[in-house]
Amino acid sequence: MTAISPHGGSLVNRLATGEERERLLAEAKELQSVKISTWAISDLDLIGVGAFSPLTGFLNEEDYRSVVHRMRLADDTVWSIPITLSVSEKESQALAIGEKVALVGEQDGIIYGLLKVGSIYTVDQKEEAKNVFKTANEEHPGVKKLYERSAIYVGGEVTVLNRPKPERFGEFYFDPAVIRRIFAEKGWKSVVGFQTRNPVHRAHEYIQKSALEIVDGLFLNPLVGETKSDDVPADVRMKSYLVLLENYYPQNRTFLGVFPAAMRYAGPREAIFHAMVRKNYGCTHFIVGRDHAGVGDYYGTYEAQEIFSNFTAEELGISPLFFEHSFFCTKCGNMASSKTCPHPKEDHMTLSGTKVRGLLREGICPPPEFTRPEVARVLIEGMSHQVVI
Ligand code: ADX
Repeated sequence: MTAISPHGGSLVNRLATGEERERLLAEAKELQSVKISTWAISDLDLIGVGAFSPLTGFLNEEDYRSVVHRMRLADDTVWSIPITLSVSEKESQALAIGEKVALVGEQDGIIYGLLKVGSIYTVDQKEEAKNVFKTANEEHPGVKKLYERSAIYVGGEVTVLNRPKPERFGEFYFDPAVIRRIFAEKGWKSVVGFQTRNPVHRAHEYIQKSALEIVDGLFLNPLVGETKSDDVPADVRMKSYLVLLENYYPQNRTFLGVFPAAMRYAGPREAIFHAMVRKNYGCTHFIVGRDHAGVGDYYGTYEAQEIFSNFTAEELGISPLFFEHSFFCTKCGNMASSKTCPHPKEDHMTLSGTKVRGLLREGICPPPEFTRPEVARVLIEGMSHQVVI
């Protein structure tokens, strides 16, 4: 085990196995059921494996209100994103506090788990949006998702009975307990986690490697759950990470494993959430660069860093590593940030995501100072097979 404790002290395990699982599955078939989306299935599974420790289920009302207003669970533990289960009015009417309900995939009818109903409550989604996303604007992708759901939530402890099966790249899915073992086997005492929903461009590589100069290992942990439709699809990204790691990273100091969660685009609050989850995966450090988990211009460039000052180092447990906006400087002849480069903006090579996507769509590699050619080729190839991007 790495030295770092999971958030809240111990790694949650809500996975039923063996005979217990068989018994609970038989029981679940006779219970009231609630239909759950792909997003909720992913949350359920991440609770089950302890990635969301100390959560043992979907938030009950008291914890929900506390998280929305104070970024803490009711017992004061730091928690910034409400992990909730939304149910239709009809479904809610069939539920009773203290009873178990089967959680059934809305698309495939699979019983993914059980929930013991702790509370059924109606929320003000606008208020949730303003607190969590800092905007009630439905054009914000996270807010839009929120408004699409029913405002009736059901909270309670869960037990996982079936796990979602990855369609591709299954070999890069590791539960937190497994990751912790792997880090320990590698002898890594300090590990920096890197969240990304993008291909790894040179700026990402620069901040990862700057961090790797001071820790034992890098955990490249791309988010592969639901993202907005104009983000580069996860399978294309995975190919791009593999080609990059193979060519430019020290294999004995880098580890690639996916984070199968949905992207919330909640900027600062999501940065805290991302850090807590990586702590559960055994990371001692976590990279927060510019506009972490941001979208559009809803958040200030460094707001996702500033939010960490609301908590003490003991409360966080994991050390955030903050990086300034990084770029290739043509005068310096290397990657830099305003902390390390004296030259004016005109000497800095920065390209917007929209511009890069435009180039790739036309089959043009962005400059190598922006994206490694090996990565660009994978992205061009991947995008030529995509209808939307
Ligand atoms: S995110 O939504 O997952 O945060 P992205 O994959 O682009 O988006 O970013 C991954 C991490 O790299 C985040 O911590 C982000 O702040 C950081 N980052 C991305 N681009 C830069 C950059 N040019 N300079 C500094 N940090 C960056």
